[in-house]
Amino acid sequence: MLHRIEEINSKAIEELDGIEQFKKLEDWRVTYLGRKGALTQILRGLSSLPLEERREVGAAANELKVLLEERFSQKQEALKEAELARRIEQEKLDVTLPGRPTPLGRLHPTTQIMRQMCDIFISMGFEIIEGPEVEWDYYNFEALNIPKYHPARDMWATLWIDYEAPSGERPMLLRTHTSPMQIRLMEQRQPPLRVLMPGKVYRYEATDATHESMFYQLEGLAVDRDITFAELKGTLYEFARRLFGAERKVRFRCDYFPFVEPGVEMAIDCFSCQGAGCRVCSGKGWLEILGAGMVHPDVFRHVNYDPEAYTGFAFGLGLERIPMLKYGIDDIRLFYGNDLRFLSQF
Ligand code: PHE
Repeated sequence: MLHRIEEINSKAIEELDGIEQFKKLEDWRVTYLGRKGALTQILRGLSSLPLEERREVGAAANELKVLLEERFSQKQEALKEAELARRIEQEKLDVTLPGRPTPLGRLHPTTQIMRQMCDIFISMGFEIIEGPEVEWDYYNFEALNIPKYHPARDMWATLWIDYEAPSGERPMLLRTHTSPMQIRLMEQRQPPLRVLMPGKVYRYEATDATHESMFYQLEGLAVDRDITFAELKGTLYEFARRLFGAERKVRFRCDYFPFVEPGVEMAIDCFSCQGAGCRVCSGKGWLEILGAGMVHPDVFRHVNYDPEAYTGFAFGLGLERIPMLKYGIDDIRLFYGNDLRFLSQF
């Protein structure tokens, strides 16, 4: 019997050493320590042994039972620790890894440049108003000193709206410039005025790299007593310096717009080559950036301002042209083509 106990002992210990899973450990427990296990059988059978033997065998069996139980819980602990270590290893987080970037929305390049420009004029005392994109002939042309059938209308390729007035005329259009806002503003308010009027304008164009049927303009109007051409120059000069750099030079040349007199086109010396001539300015050294002039007396008459009492200046610029020059963008269609590869560069 003692021999048998010794056998169980070495077999049990040997098997236990090889165990690496909880499931196997449980099988082992059932085999050696369970109710029908080898050791339990021996202990159960003790009573049938002669007294001397019973004592010896009983002591040995109990000793073994204690030993195996002890080894069992040691093994159980070891397996638990191994399992924990494995999970720690497997579920390890590298907190030093850089985070995944959250995709962020951004402002459209047009919005960005528009805000920059507006900020500059706001700091010079201008306020901002907006108005309709669907406009009447009267505001877009007539009141701006561009009568019906006048050849100056050809300066703006117009998209007309299919609407017939009771008179049989078709007086509705998509505004071709932001200048009609000058009239709307002056109809409603009296001088002094210093106002910016940004917005979309539409032209009946075959689109190509430099023409779009929709683009943005920024219009400005200042009206007061004794406003002179020097104020137009000073205001626009300051604008150009703030937007393009303090070293900028400006050039004014005569230009024609029916609603201003005199009318000018303003250019800045090329910020890319400082006027020497390069690709950006097509070798001219100058970049034309806006149209402007002193408000025509006929325009004042249309809004019942006294041209003897008031003078003013107005300007208008095509917005997309500025970032195109600044960043060397060679196709205006990129702006509203909704290609994120382009837009996300700004
Ligand atoms: N409205 C003119 C255009 O679209 C620009 C302009 C505005 C010129 C104001 C002079 C004064 O071409």
